[in-house]
Amino acid sequence: MKVAASVLASDFSKLGDEVERVSRSGADFVHIDVMDGVFVRNITMGPAIIRAIRPCASIPFDVHLMITEPSRYFADFAEAGADIITFHAEAGSNLLSAINAVKSTGKKVGVAIKPATMVDELLEYLPMIDLAVVMTVEPGFGGQPFMPEMMSKVRALREEVCKQGLKTLIEVDGGITKETAKMAAQSGADICVAGTSIFKSSDMKRAIAEIKGV
Ligand code: DX5
Ligand code: ZN
Repeated sequence: MKVAASVLASDFSKLGDEVERVSRSGADFVHIDVMDGVFVRNITMGPAIIRAIRPCASIPFDVHLMITEPSRYFADFAEAGADIITFHAEAGSNLLSAINAVKSTGKKVGVAIKPATMVDELLEYLPMIDLAVVMTVEPGFGGQPFMPEMMSKVRALREEVCKQGLKTLIEVDGGITKETAKMAAQSGADICVAGTSIFKSSDMKRAIAEIKGV
C-alpha cells in the first residue's frame, strides 16, 4: 500500500515544515486538498501555496481539486508543482475534454467520485486516466469516519483494471486508519490518502508504516 499524506490535517502555521516532515517519515505522496467553497463547503488553498511548499519535499504532489469548473485551473496547478491533478467527475466539466486538458499540461490525471456517485461513471474512462479516486467520506472536511460501503466501488475498479491489464492506480480518500487501510487493501486499492491518522499521531513514522504495511 502506498500512502498519500493529506496536509489538510497538518499545522498550517508551519506548512512547509509539515510537508518536509511527512516526506521524511515515509509518505509516498503529499496530498493537497484544494476546496473552493462552492463545490464543497470548505475553502482551503490554491496554486500560490502549492508553489511555496513545493521545494519542501521531492516526493510527488497529488493535488485533489474539489472545485467547480476545474479545467480553468489545470495549467495553474501544473505550473505550481502538481504531479498528479485529480478533479471530480461531478464538477461540471466534460469528463473526456477535462482528462485531455490535464494530459496536455504533461501531468498525470486522476478522476474522483463522491460517495453518492456510481462507479460506472468512472469505469469507461479507466484506460485514459492514471488515478481513479474513490471518496470514502463526503468531500469537504478531514476527520470523518470511513464509509466501508464504498469498497464495492474499489472492487469493481480493481476487477476492470485487471481485466483490461491497465496501469491505472486506485486511490481511496478519507477516514483512513490502519484498520480501514486493511479493508481498502483487501478490496484492491493501491494508495490510501490519510490526513488525521498521520498528522494527529504522536508518532508520524509509525502511523505511515502501519498503513503501508497492511
Ligand atoms: C476530504 C479530503 C481528504 C481528507 C482526508 O475532502 O479529500 O483528503 O483530507 O482526511 P482524513 O484522513 O482526516 O479523513
Ligand atoms: Zn483529498
